[in-house]
Parts: sequence; structure tokens; C-alpha cells
Amino acid sequence: CGIIGFTGILDAKEVLTEGLKELEYRGYDSAGISFFGENKILTIKSEGKVACLCEKVKAADTEEATCGIGHTRWATHGGVSDTNSHPHTFGQVTLIHNGIIENYKELEEELAKKGKYPVSQTDSEIAAMVIDDYYVGNPVKALKSAIKKLQGAYAFCIMFADQPEVIYAIRNGSPLVATSTVEGSIIASDMVALIKYSKDYFVLPEHHIARLTKDEIIVTNMEHQVVTPPMLHVNWDVAAARKGGYEYFMLKEIHEQPEALRNTIAPRIVNGLPDFSEEGISDELLRNTKRIVITACGTAMHAGLVGRILIEKLTRIPVSVEIASEFRYANPILDENTLVITISQSGETADTLAALRLAKENGSMTLSIVNVKGSSIARESDFVLYTHAGPEIAVASTKAYTVQLSALYLFAFRFAFVKEKISQQKAQEYITLLEDTIDTVAYVLSYDTQIEAISQRLKSADDLFFIGRGLDYALSCEGSIKLKEITYIHSEAYAAGELKHGTISLITDNVPVIALATQADVYAKTISNVREVRSRGAKVILITNADVQVDASLCDHHIMLPPMEAEFTPFAAAVVLQYIAYYTAVARELNVDQPRNLAKSVTVE
Ligand code: G6P
Repeated sequence: CGIIGFTGILDAKEVLTEGLKELEYRGYDSAGISFFGENKILTIKSEGKVACLCEKVKAADTEEATCGIGHTRWATHGGVSDTNSHPHTFGQVTLIHNGIIENYKELEEELAKKGKYPVSQTDSEIAAMVIDDYYVGNPVKALKSAIKKLQGAYAFCIMFADQPEVIYAIRNGSPLVATSTVEGSIIASDMVALIKYSKDYFVLPEHHIARLTKDEIIVTNMEHQVVTPPMLHVNWDVAAARKGGYEYFMLKEIHEQPEALRNTIAPRIVNGLPDFSEEGISDELLRNTKRIVITACGTAMHAGLVGRILIEKLTRIPVSVEIASEFRYANPILDENTLVITISQSGETADTLAALRLAKENGSMTLSIVNVKGSSIARESDFVLYTHAGPEIAVASTKAYTVQLSALYLFAFRFAFVKEKISQQKAQEYITLLEDTIDTVAYVLSYDTQIEAISQRLKSADDLFFIGRGLDYALSCEGSIKLKEITYIHSEAYAAGELKHGTISLITDNVPVIALATQADVYAKTISNVREVRSRGAKVILITNADVQVDASLCDHHIMLPPMEAEFTPFAAAVVLQYIAYYTAVARELNVDQPRNLAKSVTVE
């Protein structure tokens, strides 16, 4: 969900609705705002997109307001409806919430005994009721008591009916960033809503209460002491969070990949070698690492699959990749010689954060690869390797994935060098190849017309398969998730050799198979698998390296990547797969940036 609160000298309704438009990628089931106006708190909310809310706000034509809170929802508890939309009001309390209150049923029963009943089906309204239950004129006291009762993750922005022009905020797990300027104080779930007002901000520490007034933000801890959280700075601007002429954020972000890669790779190269001294990652730490566990969710986990192959190949150190939501409950084997790498664009994914905490509890060293500065995963890890993709707005991750790959490649090269598995010269050669990849990615961006035409032939598919071996299999997993996220076509990724053990029964006339065969060592084997599906009627789109001769009868479409070393093809192939998903979704006339049921950042488990 997206959260925003503002109090100051500007038109609050405007600040909130504009902010919600920026935050809409975090959830777009429904939206709402509350503000002080006409001597009370007024609320306007609506099912559907922020645009529907804006119309309602315009039609309501209420008097000007300078303080309010706003929310755009990704439904968890309670279906999508006006009633279940935020803000929720109970008694004196009006709030917006991101997260899940796990014990809301219990709390609801307790409140029922007092004759207090909610009107919505949400856990968030129960939170409003609990806070109101403790409220007798002192917001801080009420919040302190209430959070003792609330279990689960939350970020709240709260207004009390008798505290005009003031917003309170508190969080546990879910993110909140804030800043104070001459125009007022503003708080939100992420920087894209704040960047218009300031590039400097702070992260509200967990279990601290922020009190926002038009002149300042006072943060206090649970002992009532005033705390000054460290200020952070972002080096991107409003334009980075806008579409800038592209039809969709996803297309813009696909095109931003060369720059994002450059920004991520360049600062880590010293004398032609990868260098992490800025990050404090010492060679000693790497030398002591006997095993690596990579844990993440979704696309970030797929980046980990590529990382594993590369790290194992170069170092012969065992690496496993675990889905974060599984890892947590799998009683994993961890020790002080295991380095746990968490990968996350947002740095706030609840499952990944929980996995990181588990790793720390078990005494492992932790390194995170994160895009959002100051995010929870970044703050809680022993070491952070920031990717510099800038804000990624489209739900389907593109540039964040390729920069995660680049961070893993840099790590693998340094690791192999420190472990004396590759010479300095070899490490430098790899770095040169990695830098060359940036131009290769830029070149592959020109494949758009070819892939758009192919996508026209995929748009009516019901099922689709991605196949490949080794790095190509890891890539297939990413290609498949990208396609299903935004086109709603059922798709699966299979290790090409595994097809014949079951899945090949699903291949019939005209079922599209996207076959990746970029790796010379398994090329012939993958091509045999292509023949197997071809002879059963599959429509084959074959992606290969430049240096192979492809028999025309083998496929319907051949996408040839530019010449490059086999280890580096994932960067170029990723762009091809992103384009396939993107143009197929466009051909199906879908909203590419806001696919149904999904949210950019999932801060609930
Ligand atoms: C959500 C998004 C995915 C993303 C995953 C992990 O499910 O829809 O695109 O890959 O979260 O997000 P993270 O921010 O941890 O990389």
C-alpha cells in the first residue's frame, strides 16, 4: 500500500492526491484521503484507481485544507470496496495503514465485549478502534498502549479529531520516510512521493512516534526521548519518477538499463578490479566464507539463480538459492562461515526481511543487494551493496533485475579473486567484459521492432513455455514470471532437459515455446530439446548467441544476441525477455504498469 501525510501551508488535498498518483504503483485497488476541513475530519474514498478518487475529491468541492493523510490500497484483509478503503475512522481516530495486524480477530472480539463494532472487514479499522479505545486526549500515550496490543507489521499515519493540523505516525516493519521543508512536513511510504519537496529525508525508526506539524517533525522513542534520525539523500530527481514521454514506466525502465548498469558498476571499479572497500566488505570476510545462501523473492530471487551459477563456477564454493518465504520455515542450516546474501529492489519485502533476521539470529554474516537507500533490509544487514537503478515504478521489475545481476557479477569476481581462484589479470578481463555488456544491453534495446512483431503472434496464446539449460534456465524463470505478471498468459519455465519427464505432454500444435540456447557448452543438448517440442507442433522462438548457424526449420523466429562471452548473455537475454513480456501485454491491451492483483513492494508475509 502507499501512504502519505502532509501538514503545512500548501493545499493538502492537492499534495495528497498528487502524492498518491506517485505511490499508486504500491497498490491500486482503492484510494482515499482524510483532511481537516470545516472544523472536522472529512474523508473521501473510492474503489478503483487514484483517478477515481481525484474525481470524487473534485466533485465534493470541500473548503481548502492544509493537513491530511492519504492511502492507496493493495487489499489483504477484506475485499476491494469503498468501505474497506482507507482512511478508517473510529471515534476520535482517523488512520491509514500499510501492513497486516495479525491478531485483529482477537482484538475485534475484545472490542465487541465493550460494544464496539467495526463497519469494514479490515484489520486496519480494528487498529483504529484499539487506538481510540486508549485515547483520552493524549495521542502519544494512546499509541504507546495500542502498539503493545497490535501484532504484525504496520505503518500508520493518524489524525485525532481534536488535534487539528497534526499528524502522528508510527511503524513496525512497513516503511515510512519523512521530511520537513518551508512548505510543511510530509511523510510517505517512499521517496517518490517526497522528491518533489526535498531530496533529503529520514527513515522513521521502528517503534518511534513522529509528530508532524507544519513547522517541524518531532520523533520520540518509547521512553519519550527526542531522537534525531540520520538524514539521507537521494541523487535522482522528480523526472526519474515520471514517465518522461514513454507510454509506460516499464518501457522507460527497460531503456534506463545501460545507465543503471553504469551507475552500479563504475563506482566499484578500482584499478580495473572490483572493489568493495566503500561498502566495508573486507577480503577477510570473503576469505572466511565457506558457503553462500542467497535468499530473495520474485525477480530478485531469479537474479540469485544467475548469481549462484556464476559464483559456483568461478569459486567452487557452494551456493544455494532459497525462496525467502520458504527459507524462513525450513529450519535452514546456517553458521558463522555462511554468508547470507539477500537481494531486494525495495529493501522492504517482508519475507526477505524475515529471512535476513533469521540468518542473523543464526550467526551468519549478511550482505544485502538493495536498491532503496535506508530501507529496512539495507539497515539491518551487516553489509550493503546498493544497486543504483534509481526509482523503479513499474510492478514488473526490469532495471532492478539487471543491476542486481551486475552486483552479483562484481561480487563473484572479487570473491573468486580473493579466494585465489582467478588471477588478477583474469579478474580485470572479466571486469572489462562486464563493462562492455553495458553497450551490448544498449544495442539490444534496438530489437524492439523485431520483438514487437513476434509478440503479435504470442498475444493469443493460452499457455507458453520457456526452456533453457544452466544460465538459460535461470533466465527462463525470469522470462516466465515477467510474462505472466503482465500478460496473464499462463507460462512456465522448464529446464530444457526436464521437459521430456512430464511437461512435454502439454506441447501441442502452436503452443509457443521460447527456447534460450545461448550457452555453448549445452547448446547442442538444448537444440535437441527444441527439436523434441518442434516435432510435436510447438511454435518456437529461439534465442541464441551470434556465433551459431541455426537451421531455418528449427524455429519460427530466431532472435540472435550480439557477440559476447557466454557468461554475460543474461544481461542481453533479459532485455529480450522483458521486451517479449512488454509487447505481448501491450498487444493484449493491458495496463502494463499496474497488473491485476500485484503490488510493487509486498511488506506483508
Ligand atoms: C513483488 C513484486 C516483484 C518483486 C518482488 C520482490 O512481488 O511484484 O516484482 O520481484 O516483490 O521485491 P523486492 O523489492 O524484494 O525486490
